[in-house]
Amino acid sequence: MRFDVLTLFPGIFEGYLSESLLKDAIERGALEVCLHNMRDWANDKHNTMDDRPFGGGPGMVLKVDRIVPCVEEVQTYAERPGRLVMLTPQGRPLTQRVVEELAQEERILLLCGRYEGFDQRVVEILQPDEISIGDYVLNGGEVAAAVVIDSVMRLIPGVLGDENSAVVDSFSSGNRLLEEDQYTRPREYRGLTVPEILLSGDHGAIERWRSSNRREKTLARRPDLLDGEETKIDEDEKKKKKKKRPKKTEEPEAVAESENVAEAKPSETPEAVDATETNVDV
Ligand SMILES: C[S@@+](CC[C@H](N)C(=O)[O-])C[C@H]1O[C@@H](n2cnc3c(N)ncnc32)[C@H](O)[C@@H]1O
Repeated sequence: MRFDVLTLFPGIFEGYLSESLLKDAIERGALEVCLHNMRDWANDKHNTMDDRPFGGGPGMVLKVDRIVPCVEEVQTYAERPGRLVMLTPQGRPLTQRVVEELAQEERILLLCGRYEGFDQRVVEILQPDEISIGDYVLNGGEVAAAVVIDSVMRLIPGVLGDENSAVVDSFSSGNRLLEEDQYTRPREYRGLTVPEILLSGDHGAIERWRSSNRREKTLARRPDLLDGEETKIDEDEKKKKKKKRPKKTEEPEAVAESENVAEAKPSETPEAVDATETNVDV
């Protein structure tokens, strides 16, 4: 996949592109990130890219007669033109579903604004996909462009150590809810212990615990992620649980207690992490 970043401050990306997963992905050829300094398209002796807004008001506006030729030329730098994304607080919100949609593209151009943003005719002429990373205002589109690259690259095959990770993460295609609580060694720290069920080796019981943990956490923190039907099911489950409480053997913890922890598959015990630790940065 290829990203073309159009910015007035390409230096902002230098550190970001030369570290960790992104650096590895670029070196392995899974990803290409090309930076373009929009100021190269300024055609006067002062390198002017912006001007005062018609009608008055604060700040400066990026000029249509600089930005449009810049985007049009960069589109010709690869075999096929790419999808043009304009970073703007006025765009559609970047969600995991939008990230998944963008990850299907072969090439994306990320147009970063500065100052008061772009002359509206840039939008009318180029008809970009306008994307916002949240309801707040940044100084420029560079950090937002980095957020798009960072979230999209995780979905490119071969970029993450374990591809399944991007499927089961919060909001993701295999789990639209929040991810369940995670634990690793030590089993006990400052009196806090890991839920016994996770040490049991009982795959069915562990999956039931994870599923219920995801749903309870999502209901408490982000009920908007559960549609009406799911919320209803969740509440029904809670009621059922309350009714069943006296029968202790049916609680997941009770299942764990009855299982021999030593029977857990080696690959699933926290101790096994020692042997398999890969330091994959996800
Ligand atoms: C100071 S902002 C301009 C804000 C604009 N005057 C407004 O009120 O909508 C400068 C640039 O930062 C970027 N930017 C700021 N907030 C953003 C956000 N939430 N999402 C994506 N890009 C953002 C855009 O590229 C924008 O053109």
